[in-house]
Amino acid sequence: MIITIDGMIATGKSTIAKKLAKELGYIFFDTGAMYRCFTFLCLKRNVNLEDKAQILEAINHFKFNIKFQHGEKHYLVDSEDVSEIIRGAGVTSLVSQVATIPEVREKLVGIQRQWAVGVNAIFEGRDMGTVVFPKAELKIFLTGRPEVRATRRLAELKTRFPEEMKDLTLDQALEDINRRDVIDSTREISPLKKADDAFAIDTSELTPDEIVMKILECKDSLKGRKSS
Ligand code: DC
Repeated sequence: MIITIDGMIATGKSTIAKKLAKELGYIFFDTGAMYRCFTFLCLKRNVNLEDKAQILEAINHFKFNIKFQHGEKHYLVDSEDVSEIIRGAGVTSLVSQVATIPEVREKLVGIQRQWAVGVNAIFEGRDMGTVVFPKAELKIFLTGRPEVRATRRLAELKTRFPEEMKDLTLDQALEDINRRDVIDSTREISPLKKADDAFAIDTSELTPDEIVMKILECKDSLKGRKSS
């Protein structure tokens, strides 16, 4: 079974996907991490994002791997562990722009579909239920009030990068979230949007465990739909 979780920034997609995977014994994929890894490569190679030839050259040489260490996923680009750096300010400020490039999406979507063959998996991202897995059995779309999401993102960044983020304010976090949400949902290719058959969950007032419970209820309700 394939479960897709799409949604806005800082709705807790990764946390939820991870918890749900544990609950169900599924594997899970954070597809945003792939866009972040490719953005890291572009920064490392000084790729000019306006130059198609340079982008094609970079995407054709993109070597991306995942390894497990102490139960945690680590992301490798050309064997370099980039798990931390891809969450930092440099990659974060550029990744939404990189994710609008058709050739980049085509390559990463191809990899995502290969990973889905013959497994029970949860894929989280922006276009999982609409474009990558339109036939997924269960689709979830997470939303949340921007102020709540900005508070979450601020806390996460300050914990992860205390020095780099010490001056970041709630207003700045909110502005960044709004800016990236606009890019993600208005781009031409695979914009962030709810699939018609997705269950929408507003996460503003819910804990991660409560969200997982709701998703499990959605999953159970499918059985009813199929047998009726
Ligand atoms: O979920 P995230 O913040 O790590 O995602 C990083 C960026 O990648 C974000 O701007 C949206 C984009 N993305 C995408 O376009 N399609 C996906 N399937 C996943 C992420």
